Amino acid sequence: MNKIGIIGAMEIELETLKSHMQITNTLEKASMSFLEGTLNHTPVVIVKSGIGKVNAGMCVQILVDIFHVTHIINTGIAGSLNAVIDIGDIVLSTDALYHDVDATGFGYPIGEIPQLGTLSFQADSQMIALAKSSCEAVNPDIKVFQGRIVTGDQFVSSPSVKDNILRNFPGSFCTEMEGAAIAHASWLNHIPFIIIRAISDKADDSAHMDYPAFEKAAAEHSAKLVEHMVERIVD
Ligand code: ADE
Repeated sequence: MNKIGIIGAMEIELETLKSHMQITNTLEKASMSFLEGTLNHTPVVIVKSGIGKVNAGMCVQILVDIFHVTHIINTGIAGSLNAVIDIGDIVLSTDALYHDVDATGFGYPIGEIPQLGTLSFQADSQMIALAKSSCEAVNPDIKVFQGRIVTGDQFVSSPSVKDNILRNFPGSFCTEMEGAAIAHASWLNHIPFIIIRAISDKADDSAHMDYPAFEKAAAEHSAKLVEHMVERIVD
């Protein structure tokens, strides 16, 4: 039986999912509130991880150890790294990596953690296909892209930082602050995952202005998508 861990970055987005959920159990752990129950009869655990890589990784481990989730979905917002991907569009992760890891001094490629054996973490192909069809079903006017998501403990809001990320990781679709840590922790535990991000800004000097304006619409889109998706995940 599937049990889907849903990690949200925004309270606003979790509010919608929580209001549609039948809650059977709540647990406070590591300063996070885990809500267990069902969403349209599918077992789920919904949690706000807090911002950044450590919060995100810890959140996944608790979902695995205590709730025994079978799949992980992370939703939230991100800054676009591609001129074609605009505010309001949705990016589904093909894979995720850390843009702020550098062990090049030891001969590792930029972004790769020494001795881990992988630079990036591949999202689950079934979950990607399902997220795409769910998005087309519930948000038909929104453009959906599939590509690499890059993560760092950094809100990217200057063109020079953005350019540097793209020099190191050409072709990346968007940047945010949790995805690769969620992917990494899921990968270590052999749990299929997907990162779903609505674009809130262009990760440049307009980023701080665009972010609040777009937050609410993004939250609503991704909540609808996740709700449609969870009951269609097969074992
Ligand atoms: N989340 C949303 N926009 C972002 C940005 N520009 N950088 C990092 N995380 C983000």
